[in-house]
Amino acid sequence: MRIVMIGSGYVGLVSGVCFADFGHSVVCVDSDRSKIDALNAGRMPIYEPGLDDLVTKNAKAGRLTFTTDLPSSVADADAVFIAVGTPSRRGDGHADLSHVFAASREIALACKGFTVVVTKSTVPVGTGDEVERIIREANPSADVAVASNPEFLREGAAISDFKRPDRVVIGTIDERARNVMREIYRPLSLNVSPLHFTERRTAELIKYAANAFLAMKITFINEIADLCEKVGANVQEVARGIGSDNRIGSKFLHAGPGYGGSCFPKDTLALVKTAQDYDSPIRLIETTVAVNDVRKRAMARKIIAAMGGDVRGKTVAVLGLTFKPNTDDMREAPSLSIIAALQDAGAIIRAYDPVGAEHAKGLLDQVTFAEDPYEAANEASAIAIITEWDEFRALDFQRLKSVMAEPLLIDLRNIYPQGEIDRHGFAYVGVGRATFATPPSSKA
Ligand code: UDX
Repeated sequence: MRIVMIGSGYVGLVSGVCFADFGHSVVCVDSDRSKIDALNAGRMPIYEPGLDDLVTKNAKAGRLTFTTDLPSSVADADAVFIAVGTPSRRGDGHADLSHVFAASREIALACKGFTVVVTKSTVPVGTGDEVERIIREANPSADVAVASNPEFLREGAAISDFKRPDRVVIGTIDERARNVMREIYRPLSLNVSPLHFTERRTAELIKYAANAFLAMKITFINEIADLCEKVGANVQEVARGIGSDNRIGSKFLHAGPGYGGSCFPKDTLALVKTAQDYDSPIRLIETTVAVNDVRKRAMARKIIAAMGGDVRGKTVAVLGLTFKPNTDDMREAPSLSIIAALQDAGAIIRAYDPVGAEHAKGLLDQVTFAEDPYEAANEASAIAIITEWDEFRALDFQRLKSVMAEPLLIDLRNIYPQGEIDRHGFAYVGVGRATFATPPSSKA
């Protein structure tokens, strides 16, 4: 199959290179010339494990090319995927679809023969209808079918998620388009096909419903963690206890500082807005958004409380800045709000992140960046682990203790077992793992 991927950002690049690795001929298009030049020179615009090698391998094999020339690529294509950005529109939280619509117009004018136009960007329900209308208006004789094929890739695991998906959702009722999509994803169908064909609007909603559900699941366990601290229970045991019920499932039950990233915050907000527009509000997700928003600053209050209530002039060593490990992505990272709140309370911040420091530098003021956790901990009165990078799982606590003002670890990702680091003379605070209950305040 000849595939064009419009937008060589995170989703477009990963999807494009994986399709090429399936054996298809793929052209990745982007309007940003410097990005295309970098990709042609073998430099990746994003950090994603395994991406580099896969791009090199497929570019060498001649199956993967990069260009800014949309019209000539689209003219030969069997399928054109739209994978451009859909950021939250400033002010109203709706997804900004201007890039999607601009790409649709260009595709309409360039396509020849039957072409499947596929929205891969996360787009609100009904966007496929609008893309189709724009194409028909721009070129009434275009022979196209518009399909929705949302992605469910996790940053840091995107290539394996693409190649071993739980499901691939394809929204179109057009049989010719279904056949093209079947052919494109054929390499996935070894024993059981993961393809889930449905109607276009349903496919668009599946993506939002999936992300909103996961965000709600995380928010649920975070609130249970807060309660655990009050009643003297252990949230990890609660998560194990409920997660082994198949109906609940064990994943996405790790309590922490709140979800961040490029998808959950944006997609939950967009779903809330769509639901309100259709006069069918989804209150569970409205609450999820609100609870997650306040959680980040609450985590700063937790750190301050662990440090005795006053952090003025004290140094906090922050370990991990990105919204999760194995990415350099700082979008909606909890570290941003937590650090700002600590600074508001007068704390001095020394931070370390294995990969995200360069991005973080542009977003954080008055933060000293260290080369490793030990340099960050120098003279610190506390270490706060905000992102669970693997290299924080086996810290040398003797060494840390020797450089710190006070040996205190606040582990917002629960990567250390309760009690494990006490023997090094460290005070330890996790999330949702209180040893003692705080009695309910008596009501007058
Ligand atoms: C997510 C979805 O998983 C993916 O299907 C979708 O296509 C894009 O959004 P991603 O944003 O890469 O992927 O990250 P994910 O691993 O899902 O984590 C999102 C956030 O939730 C992170 O901040 C993470 O730290 C947090 N999280 C996740 C928790 O706090 N607890 C958990 O149990 C799981």
